[in-house]
Amino acid sequence: MKIINSLLIITLLSLSLSAKELEIPGTLPVGDAGVGKGLVAQCAACHGASGVSSNSDWPNLAGQGEQYLFSQLKYFQTGERENVLMMAVIPYLKTLTDSQLQDIAAFYSAQSASVGQAKDNQELLARGEWLYRAGDPKKGIPACTACHGLAGNGLNQAGFPAVSGQQINYLQTTLKDYRSNARNAGNYASVMQAVAINLSDSDIEAVANYMHGLYLQ
Ligand code: HEC
Ligand code: HEC
Repeated sequence: MKIINSLLIITLLSLSLSAKELEIPGTLPVGDAGVGKGLVAQCAACHGASGVSSNSDWPNLAGQGEQYLFSQLKYFQTGERENVLMMAVIPYLKTLTDSQLQDIAAFYSAQSASVGQAKDNQELLARGEWLYRAGDPKKGIPACTACHGLAGNGLNQAGFPAVSGQQINYLQTTLKDYRSNARNAGNYASVMQAVAINLSDSDIEAVANYMHGLYLQ
């Protein structure tokens, strides 16, 4: 964790944020995927029975980091993160304890992530890969790999989400929501707001296309 923490701090400093603003977790709770499986009947309509959603606007949850999933469930439960479609399940989420939310997070995290197919447009792919791997220092855009990893698997311990294979429309919408500060739940949202503020619509289109098709063997 030491190396991870200092990497995180260096990256955050380069984004002019202090590590103090973020909670860097120590030992993390782990949920029970078996219990979680019994708590997600209402979620399948949009997120699929095993966390792979059927619509490009709705995020996949399968294979996502458990700590990230838990944090987002908590934000939806408390109303810090809002979405019209998720609204339908907020009354239900409010009846669940933190330990049950952790179980749901463990369930989706244990499912196999889906792999997407990027649009076969060489120029778009090249721009997306470049942005993802190197950022664009002139525009103040950091490399996404610094926190989401070369393969897009994120970093569960730090609560950094996986982005590989994520639904393409969702990726675009959520990056635009960070850019406009509409997505602002929790301490970590400010990290992504600082990243997204310098992304143009065409940068977002390119990097979302790359992440959707991203997988390394
Ligand atoms: C009617 C459709 C719908 C249902 C039912 C639904 N969701 Fe969602 N969910 C969404 C959409 C759309 C988003 C994206 C929200 C946004 O853009 O902020 C989302 C986002 C999420 C996220 C955040 C994903 C991320 O990558 O940040 C989690 C976690 C989640 N839902 C869990 C659940 C759980 C657990 C249930 C069942 C209790 C559920 N959802 C039911 C549509 C739905
Ligand atoms: C300093 C670390 C850091 C860097 C650099 C970074 N991210 Fe993130 N990213 C995060 C964190 C932390 C979150 C979770 C924020 C939250 O809780 O809302 C996140 C969330 C996201 C999400 C939302 C995932 C979901 O399921 O909703 C996307 C998409 C994303 N980042 C894309 C990118 C892209 C594209 C880049 C590069 C241009 C990038 N990130 C650079 C740390 C980083």
